[in-house]
Amino acid sequence: MAESLIIDTNLSKEEKYKALLPQIEALTAGETDLIANISNMVAALRQGMGFFWVGVYFNKEGQLVLGPFQGPIACTRIPYHKGVCGACYTQQKTMLVPDVEAFPGHIACSSDSKSEIVLPAIKDGEVKLVLDVDSDQLNDFDEVDQQYLEQLMKLVESWY
Ligand code: SME
Repeated sequence: MAESLIIDTNLSKEEKYKALLPQIEALTAGETDLIANISNMVAALRQGMGFFWVGVYFNKEGQLVLGPFQGPIACTRIPYHKGVCGACYTQQKTMLVPDVEAFPGHIACSSDSKSEIVLPAIKDGEVKLVLDVDSDQLNDFDEVDQQYLEQLMKLVESWY
């Protein structure tokens, strides 16, 4: 396993993703424990991309339950019908939210959170988890984040 990430902070966002994704793949290859792999994935995302908050919510016990994350403390349980994470779960698709205040039912775990992107990992038609990335800046995520994070979710789906 690699001991450290190699990401040049001067790279563009797209170049950072291009450098980071193969490193996450290498970091998790050969490890079969889901929580271990998700933990390293979110730490690598935080470190490599400099995200304000990044983590997962698992689909379990009839709701979304907080899993490994990096950043400020967060809400532990989200009903399927609530917030951006709930919308991602019910619609089974990526939610790109430029202004969380404008999103009906948004759950403010932190008042510093201004924009977010949430993506599902789906196996056999069921959402297994959602990856939530939050920013303290408005309009901080775009199609580049969506493209590369969706690619990353394919890796997560392969762990199931
Ligand atoms: N904002 C999310 C809740 C999770 S936290 O931001 C970490 C939502 O509306 O689903």
